[in-house]
Amino acid sequence: MIIGVPKEIKNNENRVGVTPAGVIELVRNGHTVYVQSTAGEGSGFFDDDYIGVGATILPTIEEVYGIAEMIIKVKEPIESEYNLIKEDQLLFTYFHFASYEPLTHAMIERKAVCLAYETVEKADRSLPLLVPMSEVAGRMSIQEGAKYLEKPMGGRGILLGGVPGVRPAKVLILGGGVVGTNAAKMAAGMGADVTIMDNNLQRLRYLDDIMPANVNTFMSNEYNIRELLSTHDLIVGAVLIPGAKAPHLITRDMLKEMRPGTVLVDVAVDQGGCIETCKPTTHQDPTYIIDDVVHYCVANMPGAVPYTSTLALTNATLPYALLANKGWKKACAESAELLKGLNVVQGKVVYQGVAEAFGLEFVPAENVL
Ligand SMILES: NC(=O)c1ccc[n+]([C@@H]2O[C@H](COP(=O)([O-])OP(=O)(O)OC[C@H]3O[C@@H](n4cnc5c(N)ncnc54)[C@H](O)[C@@H]3O)[C@@H](O)[C@H]2O)c1
Repeated sequence: MIIGVPKEIKNNENRVGVTPAGVIELVRNGHTVYVQSTAGEGSGFFDDDYIGVGATILPTIEEVYGIAEMIIKVKEPIESEYNLIKEDQLLFTYFHFASYEPLTHAMIERKAVCLAYETVEKADRSLPLLVPMSEVAGRMSIQEGAKYLEKPMGGRGILLGGVPGVRPAKVLILGGGVVGTNAAKMAAGMGADVTIMDNNLQRLRYLDDIMPANVNTFMSNEYNIRELLSTHDLIVGAVLIPGAKAPHLITRDMLKEMRPGTVLVDVAVDQGGCIETCKPTTHQDPTYIIDDVVHYCVANMPGAVPYTSTLALTNATLPYALLANKGWKKACAESAELLKGLNVVQGKVVYQGVAEAFGLEFVPAENVL
């Protein structure tokens, strides 16, 4: 298959869909890979790196879309890319269709085959192509939280790990899933006193087994959350109710119970946030202060560490991309995981959530194979 890797043109997006290591695998499997010039630069991969492993560099995005049967990228196509997409072209990327109706209509009109990273789903209902970004965001939440706890950044002026003779900071993590677990590992490694809250007792039992001694688990409910607010320095929001807006576990009135300089990092901001006073911010202007409490609510945290994020993402996507060896129809017929990734195919909406979001006709994905 002829595979094209365009440069991401969404604002501040520095990741790239395929690394040089991925090109080696694709070429070894008989594919021809075209990469747009400088597509990998933001992640630290240069044109010569791609040429060295068998890719051909094309100067423009038009040429990449024009020649490719399959496009592998990171973010959803933006308006200026819509007209470059050809009928039957296979697009393997994040789409998040339900959050942007014009994209859905554009892909229907272009009659492309849209295989969305975010809905590829394993039998245990886990989402293997979302996990790597949650791992990055979870680990980053502590790095960012530690920074904003510094006095010049608006924080209480407390060092996460303390020093001999001085107690460490207290970190509260709401939600013990992928983000929460990764946050807890980082905070514990830096020596903080960590509490993870979840409303799933099974999950708390598991975390209690695997976490180091400076991580405690606590059942998530309003009473327990209120009890901890006045004593914790850094609070990370990491809850997810699949397919729904995040519940507001910390409400506006609770800010008064926190000490001045407490830092809130709401990673769940992309699902509306689990802290009522959180609204999405950017890496250019990541924080704001309400009632002396620092709010960090960047909606695309992995974007700040494109080198790590690109490698983490492509480690997860490449095995699925290699299923292209069989052609998308055969690959989706043989892999239930990949079949779940089909969202829009040759003008039909084949993912129920997307059809429901915009009142469009739904055609089961099996029917288009
Ligand atoms: N801001 C970013 O850049 C960024 C990056 C990656 C992920 N995220 C977001 O982070 C959030 C968490 O993702 P994840 O991969 O960890 O999800 P996950 O499904 O692995 O974990 C969510 C956890 O929340 C728990 N939970 C649900 N309701 C709860 C409640 N009332 N109290 C306490 N815990 C509760 C669940 O039991 C589960 O353990 C998601 O909204 C995701 O979209 C944001």
